[in-house]
Amino acid sequence: MSWLAVIATALWAMLPAYVPNNAAVLAGGGRPIDGGRSWGGRRVLGDGKTWRGTAAGTGAGTVLALALDALAPAASDALGMPLPGFPLSAAVALALGAMLGDVAASFIKRRLDRDRGAPVPGLDQLDFVVGALVAAALATPGWFADTFTFPVIAVVIVATPLLHVGTNAIAYGLGLKDEPY
Ligand code: CTP
Ligand code: MG
Repeated sequence: MSWLAVIATALWAMLPAYVPNNAAVLAGGGRPIDGGRSWGGRRVLGDGKTWRGTAAGTGAGTVLALALDALAPAASDALGMPLPGFPLSAAVALALGAMLGDVAASFIKRRLDRDRGAPVPGLDQLDFVVGALVAAALATPGWFADTFTFPVIAVVIVATPLLHVGTNAIAYGLGLKDEPY
C-alpha cells in the first residue's frame, strides 16, 4: 500500500472515532455518569462526562460510519484506492470505544487530582484512540486486523493528536469549548 493509501485508510477508518468527542461537546450536559459521586475525596468522573454526551457521541460516530460505508465506493473511485468499509459491530465499537476511552481518561485524571477540564497532554489526545482501537479489536478482530495494519496504526498515532489539537482550538475559538485543548 502506498503511503497516501495508508494515510487515507487511517483517517477514513478513524473518522467514526474522531466525531464522538465533538458530538459530545455539542450535546453534553445534564446528568453526569457518576451521578455526582466521589471516590477518595475526588469525583469519580466529574461533570464533564454525561449520559447525554456519551450517547450522542456514540450515536454520531455510528451514524457517520454507516454514512461513510455508503460513500466508500464513490470515494474509492475518486481517490483511486480502496477504502475500508464498516461492519455495524465495527461502527459501534469505534464510536462507543472512543467515548469509553475518554471516560476512562477522566477517571484517571480525577485520581491524579486534576480538576475537570485540566489538561493532561498525551492522555487527552490518545484516550479515545486507544479506546476505539481496543473496542474494535475485541468486537471485530478479523476486520480490525485487515484494516489497522501496523503502518495504519502508526499514522493514526501520529496524526490524531495533531487533528485533535486543531479541532479543539477551532471549537474553543467558536466558543463551544471552555479550554483550547
Ligand atoms: N462531554 C459529555 N460527555 C462525555 C464527554 C464530553 O457531556 N462523555 C461534554 C462535556 O460538556 C464536557 C465537554 O464535552 O465538558 C468536553 O469534553 P472533555 O474535554 O472530554 O471533558 P472536560 O470537561 O475537559 O472534563 P475532563 O477533565 O474529565 O476531561
Ligand atoms: Mg477536556
